[in-house]
This record gives sequence, C-alpha cells and structure tokens, in this order.
Amino acid sequence: MRAHIITYGCQMNEYDSHLVASELVSLGWELVDSVEEADFVLVNTCAVRGKPVEKVRSLLGQLRKEKERRGLLIGMMGCLAQLDEGQQMAKKFGVDVLLGPGALTSLPEALKANERFWDLTFREDVLDYIPPPPKGALSAHVTIIRGCNHHCTYCIVPTTRGPEVSRHPDLILKEIELLKQAGVVEVTLLGQNVNSYGKDQPGFPSFAELLRMVGGMGIPRVRFLTSHPVNFTDDIIEAIAETPAICRYIHLPVQSGSDRVLRRMAREYRRAHYLERIRKIREALPDAVLSTDIIVGFPGETEEDFQETLSLYDEVGYDQAYMFIYSPRPGTPAYKHFQDLPREVKVERLMRLIEKQKEWSYRRNLEWVGKTVEVLVRGEAKEEGFVQGHDRGNHPVLVPASQAPVPGLYQVEIKQATPHLLFGEVVGAKAPAPIPCPWPRG
Ligand code: 5AD
Ligand code: SF4
Repeated sequence: MRAHIITYGCQMNEYDSHLVASELVSLGWELVDSVEEADFVLVNTCAVRGKPVEKVRSLLGQLRKEKERRGLLIGMMGCLAQLDEGQQMAKKFGVDVLLGPGALTSLPEALKANERFWDLTFREDVLDYIPPPPKGALSAHVTIIRGCNHHCTYCIVPTTRGPEVSRHPDLILKEIELLKQAGVVEVTLLGQNVNSYGKDQPGFPSFAELLRMVGGMGIPRVRFLTSHPVNFTDDIIEAIAETPAICRYIHLPVQSGSDRVLRRMAREYRRAHYLERIRKIREALPDAVLSTDIIVGFPGETEEDFQETLSLYDEVGYDQAYMFIYSPRPGTPAYKHFQDLPREVKVERLMRLIEKQKEWSYRRNLEWVGKTVEVLVRGEAKEEGFVQGHDRGNHPVLVPASQAPVPGLYQVEIKQATPHLLFGEVVGAKAPAPIPCPWPRG
C-alpha cells in the first residue's frame, strides 16, 4: 500500500506531516512522491488565510475525480480539517479520513476502519509521539508546545489548535538526542507561541530554562519559532545571550505599528512595549537578526495607521519580514465584527511595505559583507554552480558548489549581498556532516 502526503502551511504542519509519515511507515505503508502512484493521499491543510484554503478546495476536487476513476483513499488533516468550512469540503469531495491537528495519533485506527473515519478530538498522546529522525537531514524541527492561548481577532489558530499544551521536557530532550545521534546539526523548537512553554504544566521548566537545557546538548545550532511580544521576557533574552548554541535570530511578530490597530487585533501590547522589547534584545544581543510578521489592511486601518507601521519598520530596521494582506477568516472575531477594506487599498499598502522591506533587507545584508559566518550548506541552489545554505541569522547564503562538496557546516566569508541573498567563499569547514553526495532534497 502506498501513501502520498501533500503539505500546506507552516512548520508546525511540516512537523505533523513528518509525524504521520512515520506512523504510516511503521504500519507498513510505502511513501511515494506523486498522487498517481498512491493508494492513499493525505492532505495536510492550513486555514490561516483564504489562499491556502482555496488551494485545498481545488486539490480535493482533483482527488475526487481520481477517486471516481480508480478508487483512491482520501485523507485530510491540519487546521482546515478542524473547521466547519473544512468539514463541509470534506463531505462534498468524499474525504474518507479526517483528522484534526489534535487527532493525528488516530491514524492507525482510521486506516483499520473500513468506513469514513473522522476524529476532531485533542488527544494527549499526540504530544508523546516521538517521530524517528528524518533520513539524512541535517536540520530538524521539534514541537515543544501545541496550541495558543492568545485571542488575536484575525487569527483562526486558537480555534483550530486549541489551548496551549506543553510537551514533557523528557520527551523533547529524548527526541533531540535521537536527532543528534542521527547527525542533525540544527534543531528548531516549534510552537505557536514557544515563549509560553511550561506555563500550563506545574513542574515543567520555563522556555528560558528549556533553551539552556537544549543549548547544552551538543547540537551546534538551536532555533525557535514563533514568539509573542508579551511573552518574550527578559529571562529568554538572557538565556539566548548566555547560550552559544542558540542562534541569534529572533522572529518577533508585530502585526502592526499602530496602537489603534493593535487594540482592535487584541494583540495585548502596544507599540511602545514592542519597541522596548526590541531595544532590550539589541542591547543584550547586538548581532541579533530580527524578523517579523506584519498584516496590512486590517479592518479599519487608516492611512495614518499604516504610516505608523512603516515608521515602526524604520525604527526597528528589520532584516526580514513576512507580510500578509489581511484575509477575513470565518469563525474569527474580526470576521464577525469588522468590515473588510477594499482589496485595492490592501494591495497598494502591501506594495509600499514590500518596498520598505527590500530597502532594509538590502541594507542589513550589506552589513555582512566582509564578515565570516557559519553556513549550514544543504543542497544545490537554483543558481547554476552554487550550493545553498543558511547562516545562524537565517540568511540564505550561496557558495560555489566546488567549495562545499558535502552538505554540512562551513565557515564562509561573505563577499556580496543582494536584497534577498548573500554570496560567499568557504574559508573553512566546521564539522562537515558525514553525508555523501548526491545532495539530499528538502
Ligand atoms: N490574515 C492575514 N494574515 C494572517 N495571519 C494570521 N491570521 C491572518 C489573517 N486572517 C498572519 C499573522 C501571523 C502569521 C502566521 O500569519 O501575521 O503571525
Ligand atoms: Fe494567532 Fe496570535 Fe496565536 Fe499567533 S499568537 S497564532 S497570531 S492568536
């Protein structure tokens, strides 16, 4: 029996796809790379914006045709599966197995049932599951907390993933130890709000304590995603400053620079608090690379509000930003109570923000020219003759393929910068991973 998994959305979804892939393998399934080869196609969905939802709708339409033609089994998991919107789609397109983000460990049962199987419960054993290390990978994700206790008015995630539940530290450390033994040199700790780790379970370490524990395990690089400005406390900044393995790349979503908009988003902090966090980060970690998420065109956002987002961008001078047009999501408070702005207004603001982001990314990238950075080279670049990796600050870095013949960590002197890329020359290898060519994908 052969299965194919298609993944949309964030790193949490990628991790979950890896989790179900290992469940399938342990049940004797073979994983294949295309729908045509598969008896079971499992779609891991995202509901955070309208676009990924529409992509899933059209994919399910195609899968239904394939099912009618040759009797395919269709599965749906992830955030959309947890919502009415997704369940209606599942009915319409003949989905056989539907698992919410908290029900992934029901997969074996679902595959045994010879009828439609839907599970939307939040099962605790999802947190207990330790997937085996991904084959040949140098970089891996580890979930440390699931769910989100915030209630941002635009966001569907608290509905789809439920409240915060931290994973037992022993399981996290065990999973990371297995990754280390398998040759992984970079681990990213994952959660919708990693900063809240441990708060829901008495006796668990705090996020700052967990960072120190993981940072002391001998993995050269430790990262984490995503943070929240109200939970990004001083102890976390201190832990990063005092633990060399932790990458000084901080992704701190601001969403808007206007207090009026932040209030309507229910973001629980104001511009001044956010800027104070940034000041503290810069003071303790002068070489930190900063990135953010910004939503443009939130309902009621005026030109003045948007100007405040632009001015906050200049005050911080982000290295990178992920920018989104506000997308009304059924089931969120903003969808219910606020009127969406005209699309032209939102698109025009996004364009202006992208210009700002490009200027700053170029400026920040130029600051690295002449410096030597540690690059985790992972595989062929799109550019002929180059391999691609990323440095500790998460910048994509290209080096001549002949200088980095195997994937692994290299010391690279940056020679040139564009708004999106750094180009460098290898000046030394640091513990290159013992993985032969050809380059592993992914
Ligand atoms: N519309 C646009 N962007 C959104 N995000 C979350 N919900 C929405 C929405 N309804 C963005 C936020 C968040 C990132 C993961 O996705 O910026 O930080
Ligand atoms: Fe959504 Fe806010 Fe939770 Fe992030 S922290 S997932 S934006 S509710």
